[in-house]
Amino acid sequence: MSLLARCPVLPVVVLDDPAQALPLGEALLAGGVDVVEITLRTAAGLAGIRALSALPTLHVGAGSVLVPQHVDEVVDAGARFVVSPGLSASVLDRAAERDVPALPGVSGASDLMVAAERGLTEVKFFPANLLGGVAGIRALSAPFPAMSFLPSGGVKPENMADYLALPCVPAVSGSWMVDPGLLAAGRWDEVTARAADAVRRARAAGRRLIGPDRA
Ligand code: 3PG
Repeated sequence: MSLLARCPVLPVVVLDDPAQALPLGEALLAGGVDVVEITLRTAAGLAGIRALSALPTLHVGAGSVLVPQHVDEVVDAGARFVVSPGLSASVLDRAAERDVPALPGVSGASDLMVAAERGLTEVKFFPANLLGGVAGIRALSAPFPAMSFLPSGGVKPENMADYLALPCVPAVSGSWMVDPGLLAAGRWDEVTARAADAVRRARAAGRRLIGPDRA
């Protein structure tokens, strides 16, 4: 199944403590979000991915995957997809070898040409707010009609519907649902509320939820 069609919002998580992973995963699921990107920006990321394997209904991916070794580490830890801030041929090669879907970051037409050449149909558009936002995606998508974009960077509840109004944007991504302050304070109810709010907004924007647990 297409990764981006699975859930219209992808939370980007920076974990300070692997012990935050399980309650975070449960809080997201309670809010109707069954996909999460745990970044390797902190040492806790890898252990967090491992911990989340205990939640079979949560589709756990790894973010900030920069080098092929990261692909091996996160796949061994249980990651089911890998996300990178940019486009790296060696990361894509290793992901293909490990048979795990990869979502490279693109920031312009040259990246998109490489992604299209490799047969990819889904990319992350990062950092979306600095690359022209909705207008930037609209312009770049014109020569790449088969490409779907996941905007990330500056996406918020207030602007996510603008992105989702583009047919080439099945999902949006960002850290607002899983702000590190909420995780540190154990405010899991607020994580659930933000996830549910994001899902509600995506539904209002016409996006359906088609994960395996949903009717
Ligand atoms: C990412 O890795 O996709 C971004 O750090 C998310 O950006 P945000 O913090 O502005 O949501």
